[in-house]
Amino acid sequence: MESMKINWIAGVLTFLYLVPAILCWGQHGHYATCKIAEEYHTEAAKAAVKESAKGELAAVCSWPDLPEIRKGYPWSSALHYTNTPDFICKFDYCRDCHDSANQKNRCVIGAMYNYTIQLESAYHNYGTQKKYNLTEALMFLSHFAGDVHQPLHVGFIGDLGGNTINVYWYNQSTNLHHVWDTAIIDSGLERFYDSNLTTMIGTILRNITDDWSNETKFWEKCNHTVCPIPYASESISLACKYAYRNATPGSHLNAI
Ligand SMILES: *[C@@H]1O[C@H](CO)[C@@H](O)[C@H](O)[C@H]1NC(C)=O
Ligand SMILES: *[C@@H]1O[C@H](CO)[C@@H](O)[C@H](O)[C@H]1NC(C)=O
Ligand SMILES: *[C@@H]1O[C@H](CO)[C@@H](O)[C@H](O)[C@H]1NC(C)=O
Ligand SMILES: *[C@@H]1O[C@H](CO)[C@@H](O)[C@H](O)[C@H]1NC(C)=O
Ligand SMILES: *[C@@H]1O[C@H](CO)[C@@H](O)[C@H](O)[C@H]1NC(C)=O
Ligand SMILES: *[C@@H]1O[C@H](CO)[C@@H](O)[C@H](O)[C@H]1NC(C)=O
Ligand SMILES: *[C@@H]1O[C@H](CO)[C@@H](O)[C@H](O)[C@H]1NC(C)=O
Ligand SMILES: [Zn+2]
Repeated sequence: MESMKINWIAGVLTFLYLVPAILCWGQHGHYATCKIAEEYHTEAAKAAVKESAKGELAAVCSWPDLPEIRKGYPWSSALHYTNTPDFICKFDYCRDCHDSANQKNRCVIGAMYNYTIQLESAYHNYGTQKKYNLTEALMFLSHFAGDVHQPLHVGFIGDLGGNTINVYWYNQSTNLHHVWDTAIIDSGLERFYDSNLTTMIGTILRNITDDWSNETKFWEKCNHTVCPIPYASESISLACKYAYRNATPGSHLNAI
C-alpha cells in the first residue's frame, strides 16, 4: 500500500514536471499536455486516473475551461493564472499570488498546491475523500499544470496577461493572450503536422527522450510534494523574452 501510494503520487508529480513549455492552454494544448503526461504514468497512477477521471485524462483536461464550469464555479477564474507588476519579469509568490480582491493563494500556483495536497491526502487516507471531489481535484490540477506553462498565464497585471493588447495573427484580429493560448498551436498544428494532433504529440514525446533528455532531471527537481514556483518563474521570463517582445498594440505577428 505504501509503495502504491508513493508510485501514485510520483505519477501525478511526474506529469506535472513533464509538461513541455511550448504548448498548452487552448483545447488542443490541454489535450496534448495531458496526453504526454499519460505516457509517463506508473501503473498505479494509471489505475488511479482510471478511477478518478473515468479513463482518459487528456479528454477531461479542458474541463475547467468549459463555459458551464466557469459559470458554475466563478471562484475558479482566478486560479487559471497569476500576474506580476508591469514590466517585472520575476514571479514572487507572496507578492503575486492573490485574486483581484487580494485574497492570498488564489492564483494558479496556489491552486496547484491546493489540488496536489487534496489528492495526496486522499491517498494517505486522511479522510479528504469525503471533503473533496477528487475527480475535480485531478481535472483542475492537470489543467492548471498546462496553464502555468503558457508564458502569458504569468503575465503583467496592467494588460491582464496580454488580454488587452490587440494584435493581428497573420491577418486575423485577436489579442496577444489568445495568440499564445490557441493561435500559435493551431497554426503550427496545421502547418507542420497536417492538422494531426497525434503526430504532433508523438514528435514532442520523442523530443523529451532525445533532445531534451538532459533537461528532465531539472524538471524533476523537487524536495517536497510539489514545486510549481519554478514553472511560474520560467513562464514570466519567457513572456518577457518572447511573448511581450515587439508585441505592441496593433502589431502584426506571425510564425516567421
Ligand atoms: C481549493 O480547492 C477547493 C475545492 O475545489 C476550492 O473551493 C478552493 O477555492 C481552492 N482554493 C485554491 C486556492 O485553489
Ligand atoms: C465530482 O465531480 C464530478 C465533476 O464535476 C461530478 O460529475 C461528480 O458527480 C462529483 N462526485 C461527487 C461524489 O459529488
Ligand atoms: C486571411 O488570409 C487568408 C489566407 O492567407 C485568406 O484566405 C483570408 O481570406 C484572409 N482573411 C481576411 C479577413 O483578409
Ligand atoms: C494521425 O497520425 C497517426 C500516426 O501519427 C495516424 O495513425 C492517424 O491515422 C492520423 N490521423 C489522421 C486523421 O490522419
Ligand atoms: C525539439 O527540440 C528541438 C531542440 O530543442 C527544438 O528545436 C524543436 O523545436 C523541438 N520540436 C518540437 C516539436 O518540440
Ligand atoms: C542540455 O543540453 C543542451 C545542449 O546539449 C544545452 O543547451 C542545455 O543547456 C542543457 N540543459 C541542461 C538543463 O543542462
Ligand atoms: C528545497 O528546495 C528549495 C529551493 O530549491 C530550498 O530553498 C529549500 O531550502 C529546500 N528545502 C529542503 C528541506 O531541502
Ligand atoms: Zn485555464
